Order: sequence, then C-alpha cells, then structure tokens
Amino acid sequence: MPAANDVFEIMHTTRAMRRLKPDPVPDDLIRKILDAGIRAPNGGNTQKWRFLVVKDPEIKKRVQVHYKRAFDEIVGPRYRSSEAPPGVTPEKYRRQHDAVEYLTDHFHEAPVWIVACIEHHGERPRRWSGASIYPAVQNMLLAARALGLGATLTTRHLLFEKDSEAALGLPPGVHSYAILPIGWPMGRFGPVGRGPLSEMVYLDRWGENYPGL
Ligand SMILES: Cc1cc2nc3c(=O)[nH]c(=O)nc-3n(C[C@H](O)[C@H](O)[C@H](O)COP(=O)(O)O)c2cc1C
Repeated sequence: MPAANDVFEIMHTTRAMRRLKPDPVPDDLIRKILDAGIRAPNGGNTQKWRFLVVKDPEIKKRVQVHYKRAFDEIVGPRYRSSEAPPGVTPEKYRRQHDAVEYLTDHFHEAPVWIVACIEHHGERPRRWSGASIYPAVQNMLLAARALGLGATLTTRHLLFEKDSEAALGLPPGVHSYAILPIGWPMGRFGPVGRGPLSEMVYLDRWGENYPGL
C-alpha cells in the first residue's frame, strides 16, 4: 500500500482524483477512511453526521443520471466560459475540464462512494451546518490519499437535491452534503495548484501585506 505519512506532503498532494479504476477497494481501507472522518471537529460534538457507503451499481447509476444532467444543463456551460483559477495554467485548466467530464460520465463506476450526510430531523439546515460535516469530508480525503486511494469532493448532485436524495434512499430529515467517489487512481497524485499565499492573506487590516509571504 503506497502510504504517505507526512501530513504536509499529504495536504500538498491531495488533488481531486477523478479518473478511478473500477477495481474493488478492501473494506478495511474504507473503514480506516470513515474512522478518520469521525475524528473531525463538529458543532458541540453532537456527531449528527451519518455516512452512507454505496457500492450498489444500480443506486450509483440512478444518482449519476442527475449528476450528469447537472453538468449538461448548468455546470458544463459555466466551465467552458470560465477563466483558469489562480495558480493554474490554461493548459492545466483544460485538463481539469476533461477530468471533470470524465468523472461525470464514469461517476457510478467508482467502486465505492461515501455520501456524507447530516441528520437534521426537525431542524432547519443553517448556513453553518456544513461546518459540522466538511471537516470530516476533508479528513476522509486526506486519509484516502494517505492510503493511495483517489477521491474527489463532489456536491454537484445537490443541484438536483430532491431527485438525488430520493435515488440515494435518504429518509426524511436527513440531507446529503457531499458524495466522495473513491477508488484506485489511474494517474499520479500531483501537487495541488493554488495561487500565492501573498495574494490571499492580510495582516491586521484588510488588503495589507503580511510580510514574508
Ligand atoms: C464545495 C465543493 C464542491 C465540489 N464539487 C465538485 C463536483 O461536483 N465535481 C467535481 O468533479 N469536483 C468537485 N469539487 C472539486 C473541485 O473542483 C476541486 O477541489 C478544485 O478544482 C481544486 O482541484 P485540486 O484539489 O485537484 O487542485 C468540489 C470542491 C468543493 C470544495
């Protein structure tokens, strides 16, 4: 197992890995990823998170239909007319588009999905609700990377939230926040492309340089 142990190395190379082999992933690795997930901070330590692991090809296919529809109708056109983000060359951005399209078509072929959910029951989801699930999601992405597994944080199914959650069979009061397709990557883990720190960080007053960045 190609484990990486240095947390900074892992953070620097946890890219969205969208091209995955359909080969099965051992359950003990999925358990490790989930166990890393529940070590994350969450509001009041109430642990209202729930994780639906999906391997059933029919369920994944039913959700993929909505994921693809969201690409065809909303995300694809937006992507095609957008500029490369900070720290990403136009060529790299073009390759990202190809990978996004690849995942769209092959979403359901990832051998395992982890659907990160919150049990809201009577409570209205709030603006900060995601803060009690996305740290767990990031822990799981880092754990997958450390185990040599590829994964991507995806939320696009939420553009057709009701249809997707019905296809996932979520009970009333439970909402999904992300789907992580997980599998052995076809490509290599590379450095993540981000803009320079000096353009994103200020000292004391908005817009003022933080020296030394
Ligand atoms: C809130 C959020 C939603 C995302 N949804 C999707 C998605 O639905 N599909 C997808 O392919 N990538 C999705 N991503 C992954 C981003 O596109 C990715 O993190 C970004 O392009 C940076 O890529 P990198 O980490 O490989 O450098 C999402 C990321 C975030 C944080």
